[in-house]
Parts: sequence; C-alpha cells; structure tokens
Amino acid sequence: MAMLFLAPGLKASSWIKHLRMQGPEVDLRVWPETGPREEIELVLCWKHPLGELRNYPNLKCIASLGFGVDHILRDPGLPPGVPVARLVDEGMTRAMSEYVIAAVLNHTRRFDLFRQDQSQRVWRPRRPLHAPEVRVGIMGLGTLGRDAAAKLRLLGFPVAGWSRTPKEVAGVSCLAGAERLDEFLSRTDILVCLLPLTPATQGILDRRVFSRLPADAYLINAARGDHLVEEDLLAALDSGHLAGACLDVFRTEPLPESHPFWNHPRIVVTPHSASHTYPAAVAPQIIENFRRVRAGQAPLNAIDIDKGY
Ligand code: NAP
Ligand code: GLV
Repeated sequence: MAMLFLAPGLKASSWIKHLRMQGPEVDLRVWPETGPREEIELVLCWKHPLGELRNYPNLKCIASLGFGVDHILRDPGLPPGVPVARLVDEGMTRAMSEYVIAAVLNHTRRFDLFRQDQSQRVWRPRRPLHAPEVRVGIMGLGTLGRDAAAKLRLLGFPVAGWSRTPKEVAGVSCLAGAERLDEFLSRTDILVCLLPLTPATQGILDRRVFSRLPADAYLINAARGDHLVEEDLLAALDSGHLAGACLDVFRTEPLPESHPFWNHPRIVVTPHSASHTYPAAVAPQIIENFRRVRAGQAPLNAIDIDKGY
C-alpha cells in the first residue's frame, strides 16, 4: 500500500528525501507516476489538479502540505468519509508571527514612508505610532492567531481576537461570532486576517468590514487571497479611509503583472511567503499519519470537514 505525492507546483526531490528518511518502509510515489491507483492509501496534496482525488478508491487519508485545507475541500471529487489532515508546525507558526510583527512594525515605525522619502532624498523625521495606542485585532484565534496575539502583546500592543466560538487568551480581549464582529472592528487600528478560507469567511474583508474600522486603519492579510474583495480594498485606500495594507496572499497567484496592487504606494505585496513549509520539519508528522491510518487510527491534525477547517 502506498503514499502519493500530489503537488505539481512543489519540488518533489526534497520532500521525497525527507519522507524516505522518516519512513523507509513507505512505498512513496510521485504523481503522475501513480502505479495502480487502488494501492494509494494516503495522498499528500498541495494545489493539485481539481477532480483528481476521485481516482483513488482506497484512500484512508488526504493530507495537506500546508496549514490550510481549502485547496483540498474545493475538489469536486473529494471522496466522502475520508479524513483530511493538515500540518501544524511550531516553526511555521513562529514564521507567521514574525511576518505579522514585521508588517505591524513596518507600519507603526513608518518604514513605508521613510522608504518613499529616501527615494526622493528627503530628510523627514516622522514620529512612530506608539504601540500602547495602536489596537491590533486578529481575525482567527487558532494556532496562528493565538501565537501572533501573544507576541504582539509582549511588544506592548493592545490585542483583541475574533473567532467563531468563545475563547480565553491571557491578555487578549476575545470576541466571538458574527454578532460581535462590528464591536471587534470598531476597536481595531490594525486588522490582521488569519482565518481559514471557508464559505463563511470567503470575501469577509469587504467594503462593509472596512467601513466599520476606524479611519486610518491598516490591513494585514496573510491567510488567503479569497478572503479579500480586492476592489473594496482599493476603494477604501483611495477614499483615504484605510491607511494601507500588507498582503501575502491573492485571489490569483502569482499576482498578475498588470494587477493594480503592484504599484500601489500604500500596499506592500509579498509573494505568499509569510510561512513556508519545510519538508524536514513536517516529514515526521506525515509519516506518523501514514502509519496511523494503516493501523486503523485517526490521523493527527484531522480537520472537521463540515466546518471546513
Ligand atoms: P486554525 O487553527 O484552524 O484556526 C482558525 C481560527 O479561525 C479559529 O480560531 C476559528 O474559530 C476561526 N474561524 C474560523 N471560521 C470562522 C468564522 N466564520 N468566524 C470567526 N472565526 C472563524 O487555523 P490556523 O492554523 O491558525 O491557520 C489559519 C489560516 O492561515 C490557514 O487556514 C491558512 O489558510 C492560512 N495560512 C497562511 C500561510 C501563509 O504563508 N500565508 C501559512 C499558513 C497558514 P474557532 O476557534 O472558534 O474554531
Ligand atoms: C500556506 O499557505 C499554508 O496553508 O500552510
């Protein structure tokens, strides 16, 4: 029985090396060289061709090569009843918090503006925004949101978090549910999106949400491009209501050359790089899941398919 690496956009060699080191007994195949498809029990997916998952009749687990699983759940051939597992990794979590902190400080310490001044050889001292007066609001208090919240607290920012169900996080004011979204937004100067992409969160960063933020608020989206209604962001920046945005993820990736975000003076674009997956770090949990599902056990980090995360 075999494991299939189904991630056409990723370099397979490094993955294969680390997976073989962790599980020398595993019959590991790389798509499209699948061999007999009925022998595949676990598929490792990242941005695979949609529909492909219906071709493996004996799957025991579909595993994401990232934290998110939206790319798997959108497959129209998703076989019912097969568990879907995601990665959870301390290093990736730390990397995401670093990204969020860098984006927050880039804004509060005025690096964007200094860079513009520098391009014109202008010496213009600017006061930074004072951390205790800048309220950060994190959408999503899961693995990533909680870590970022705790680290921003240490830097002196007042932090609130918004989630689907009530949470308690030390030092963070936690609000939950659609009915408390406006309250959360009205006290947020820097909005950070770390939500999973689900039918409920698709397009959540829209005109309505922006209008509930205080004037001069800043947006950081490091979750998924489909959370953001791009035209609404441009309108909110152009009207002067939002001060700027730092975006790591986009509706279309790579971001098309003609896209208005590239040249926008108040948008920082990073190429889906907030948190990379390192094969060496996550190969052990993948191999562990292969062994578990073969032994009839539930995989680690299985998501709730009905919730979508
Ligand atoms: P997670 O642990 O599953 O946490 C998700 C959080 O979002 C939970 O707090 C959940 O609320 C909340 N949530 C979900 N649906 C909601 C809704 N409708 N309303 C309010 N809150 C809602 O996820 P994670 O590990 O933190 O990762 C989040 C996302 O980050 C991933 O799905 C992925 O898309 C993205 N990501 C991006 C990168 C990158 O490089 N840019 C890297 C890694 C991950 P409850 O706690 O109440 O369930
Ligand atoms: C990256 O985007 C991930 O979901 O891990």
